[in-house]
Amino acid sequence: MEIKKVGVLGCGLMGSGIAQVAATAGFETVVREVAEEPLAKGFSAIENSLAKFVEKGTLTAEQREEIRKRLRGTTSLEELSDCDIVIEAIIENLELKCDTFRHLDSICKPETIFASNTSSLSITEMMTATSPERQRRFIGLHFFNPVPIMKLVEVVRTILTDDDVYEQAVRFAERLGKIPVRTSDRTGFIVNRLLVPYLLDAIRALEEGVGSIVDIDTAMRLGCGHPMGPLTLCDFVGLDTTYYIAEIMFNEFREKRFAPPPLLKRMVKAGLHGRKSGRGFYDYTKDPKNPVP
Ligand code: 3HC
Repeated sequence: MEIKKVGVLGCGLMGSGIAQVAATAGFETVVREVAEEPLAKGFSAIENSLAKFVEKGTLTAEQREEIRKRLRGTTSLEELSDCDIVIEAIIENLELKCDTFRHLDSICKPETIFASNTSSLSITEMMTATSPERQRRFIGLHFFNPVPIMKLVEVVRTILTDDDVYEQAVRFAERLGKIPVRTSDRTGFIVNRLLVPYLLDAIRALEEGVGSIVDIDTAMRLGCGHPMGPLTLCDFVGLDTTYYIAEIMFNEFREKRFAPPPLLKRMVKAGLHGRKSGRGFYDYTKDPKNPVP
């Protein structure tokens, strides 16, 4: 089966980026949200991102028009029934994901590949919400933020994933213009397994007074050539998301390096969720482009 039509579940930060990338790569794409308002918000993020590419000259106005024509929004799950692959990017709630996959399993054609963009939940657990035939066609496709820019996709297989389906998913990631890496269903896959302890360590270093917020970030940017320092990256990913992923990884591996530090927990409780809430380690409220610690 050749993948022609792509379904995306969720039009938030990740879902809107995935839908944009799929439509840009030439696939007919339908993205589903639960209500009109978040759908409109997602489409406005897509418009902003496409405008950046047009400004830069990497996309012509005509190409943008073609992308718009290939991309459709919906609030109905039924409209994903004839997709060749469905990529789920809804909130990180296992029960909700399982319910959605269960419903999709009953309406999608037998060949449809199911994929989840989860960063830390178990693909295997989600897979068990579907029929035995679908379980062989169930994979993880983990994208990175901002999806239109970041080149990597982790292609995740479970114990039951069919070899042909897996190879098709790898080729699909390439057709999206991404570089796939192969990994198996272990919490955090490759990137978060290595990234999360690093981010948590940066917060511990701050707690211990090793350096200021700016000095810790500057050290890693200029000392290691990272595009963002770890505390800026925490704000970018979202402190709530970082905390949530750390909790899941700690529960899975019971290793200290994954334990969320007290400062992170308190910041999340206090509503300091990073860039999206206006404040995290930095304050974005006055000038989002030049946040102050
Ligand atoms: N759409 C289109 N273009 C975009 C864009 C978007 N959404 N976001 C940024 N850009 C473009 C900008 O227009 C700019 O283009 P130019 O260089 O031609 O002017 C270019 O990207 C760089 O953007 P900025 O000048 O605004 O800022 P930076 O130079 O700092 O780059 C960044 C931004 C690409 C986000 C860079 O800082 C970066 O790579 N940061 C690290 C991001 C990262 O690590 N992401 C992974 C997070 S972990 C994750 O997602 C996993 C999850 O499970 C937690």
